[in-house]
Parts: sequence; C-alpha cells; structure tokens
Amino acid sequence: MSIRSDFPLIVNPPYEPFCYADNAASTQQPRAVIEAMQDYALHMHANIHRSPYRLAENASHIYENARKTLAMRFNVPHQGVVFTSGATSALNMLAFSLSQELKPGDGVLLSLLDHHSMIVPWQEAAKRHQLKIFWAPYDRETGCIDLNAVKDIVQRHPEIKIMSIIAASNALGTRQPVEELIYLARSANIKTIVDGCQIGLEPTDLQRMKVDFWVVTAHKMFGPTGIGAVMTPHEGIWDTLPVYQTGGGAISMVHQNNTLFAHGPARFEAGTPPIQAAYGWATAIEYLNRHSFYRENRYLRQLTDYAVEMFKNISGYRVLFLDSNDRLPVFSFVHDRIHPHDLATYLDHLYGIASRAGHHCTMPLMESLELPGTLRLSFTWYNTKDEINKCVKALEQATGFFNV
Ligand SMILES: Cc1ncc(COP(=O)(O)O)c(C=O)c1O
Repeated sequence: MSIRSDFPLIVNPPYEPFCYADNAASTQQPRAVIEAMQDYALHMHANIHRSPYRLAENASHIYENARKTLAMRFNVPHQGVVFTSGATSALNMLAFSLSQELKPGDGVLLSLLDHHSMIVPWQEAAKRHQLKIFWAPYDRETGCIDLNAVKDIVQRHPEIKIMSIIAASNALGTRQPVEELIYLARSANIKTIVDGCQIGLEPTDLQRMKVDFWVVTAHKMFGPTGIGAVMTPHEGIWDTLPVYQTGGGAISMVHQNNTLFAHGPARFEAGTPPIQAAYGWATAIEYLNRHSFYRENRYLRQLTDYAVEMFKNISGYRVLFLDSNDRLPVFSFVHDRIHPHDLATYLDHLYGIASRAGHHCTMPLMESLELPGTLRLSFTWYNTKDEINKCVKALEQATGFFNV
C-alpha cells in the first residue's frame, strides 16, 4: 500500500526481519511529521504567548494553529481544546478538577475496560472527596460495556455525577457503545468523559455526540510523544472548572494575596507547553486529512476482517473476543502453557515482530478475566495481510519452539 512508504521506520526498519504490531501502544510517524518537527527546531523555535519579537509571535501562531487543526478534525470550537502532555495528564486533570465540584457520597461510574490512566486518578479523587466508584460491567460474549446493566445502575444511583468510559478497549480491541452511553448519561444529567485514545485516527464528531470531555493522545495518531488533549464542544466550560496545575501561563493576574486565573484553555495550560510537539501533531492531522479517511478505514476494515479469519484458525491460542462486531485490529492472545512475555520475546527475537505483553494497563479487566496478562498484536494503516500471515506462522511455530 502506498501509505507504507510514508513511514520511514516501517520501510527502513531498525533491524531485519521487522514487523511493527504494537500500534495500540504508539503508532509510527510519517516522514512529514518528522520533517516538520526538525524544521521547527531548525527555524521556528521560541517560547510563546509572551515575547513580542517575530520569532516568538510566529511560534505562538504555530501553537494556536495546531489547536485549530485538532479542533476542526474533532468538530469542536477552537477554544474547546486544552493541550496536555498526553492522555494520562489529561485524565488526571479532569479527575482532579471535576472531583472538586462533587460532594461526599457522589458517584463516578467507570468501566471495567478502562485504562489505568482513567481508573487511578478517580480512585485518588474518590479518597480525597469521599466519592463512590461504580463499575460498568461488560458483556462476556462481546467484550462491550453492558448497556442494560449501566442503565440499571444509573437508575438506581442518582448520586452518580460522572461517567468515565473508554471508546475502544486497548486490551481487547472491542469498540464500546459510546454514543448510547453518552445519551444515557445526558438523560440522567451525568457528565461524560471519554477516553478516545484508541480511535484517535478515526474521524469523530464530538459536537454531534454531545460528549462533555473527550481525551486523545498524539502518539497513537501518527504524531509525537509528549502531547495529548482534552476536547469539549462546550467552549465556555473551562472558565467554570476548578484549576488543576497552576503557575505562569494559566493566570490573568497574580497579587501577593490572590490570583485570578486565565479564561479559556490557557487556564489549564500552565507552564511552557509542548510547542514543537503541537506542530508535529498538527502535521500528523494534516497528513490524516490529506488521505481519504474513508479509503483508509475501508482498508483497515478489510485488514481487520482478514486478521479475524486468520486468527480464528490458529490452534492452541484463545484470541479474546475475536468475534466481537466492529472491532479494532487489536488482538489479545492467550496460550495456556506459554507466558505472554515469553511469547513476545520469542516473536521479537525469531521473527522481528514487535508486540506487547502484560496487563496493558487494564488490571481490573485482567482480574475479571482471571488472566495475568495477554500477548497483544495491534495493526494500523501501514500493516499488510502479508504481515498478518507472518504473525500467524510465528505463533503457530511457538508451540514447537516452547515444546508445549
Ligand atoms: C486507552 C488508553 N488510554 C490512555 C492511555 C495513556 O496515554 P498516554 O500515554 O498519552 O498517557 C493509553 C496509552 O497506552 C491508552 O491506550
């Protein structure tokens, strides 16, 4: 596929053989992003929003343009985007800020599929503010949040004020009924936070979804590490929320005895932000925009269906929720007699397959499945059917290698 040649690390791999199948952790960067980041460092670097010289003014412009680019892609107002250092910092910010408006006994609904970066900040907030945590269960057939169960929990517990859920599981690859959950939450006056990290490459209309907060991270969207965002369709909302990290940039006035905080996204962007990474991320989004989403999504659909067919026939392994409808090309493998870490090391050393082993930052989910962890293979736009065939062959030969 033509898109493959846009990714230097994929076409000129660091070693041979090489197959990158860890895209749920981080995607690779296209040449355009790498060159933009270098160009920024060579010709455009300065601090922003303060100094009046032209280089600094241009850097401010670059940073604000990146905000606009992200906002347009997710259909939120320009001022509806707060940049953070990644999804984890975005989710910490939301839990810290929103929890201050809750009172002891109020509830937060999390899902058993959530990532630790969603769960742990709310556990800590719950300790600070005596909040109750409720868990949305998932259907054991489909790997999807059980809507009826959530409806029931919400009806029985009017104290639930926040629903914090994942859009698609990074451990299982199963998509969640996000729109239905948002609708359900809105009708019960519950604020919604969605971790959209695993579907960051997909076109998503947040205005239409009427979500309150949606979190993404650049390094899963062909962009650099070190930058993520919280987005909202309600642009005035930042001014109503208690501040999180404070300091320069997030203020409008500081007196000896008190501080007035800035309006808009600046209120949540204390300190020097990741300007270069914002430029790189905007370039990644422009790259996505240049390619037809629909064409690439169709390719990914075909690749996913192909992988599902191939993985169905692998003997000796259980692939979790393989039959789930409309899944992502993210697959979790379990072998009764081979530890996932051994499998991942074997795949790397013998076949150059980059995979992920462990709990995938979803320990409550692994506990519910009674598994210590899984081996995860995750694919994206630049992966090929040939690579999936290689993964199948390598996995099949593992049983001989480990003599099980
Ligand atoms: C679903 C999900 N949420 C949150 C995160 C955390 O993202 P970040 O690395 O940007 O903090 C990840 C990354 O592994 C993820 O897969």
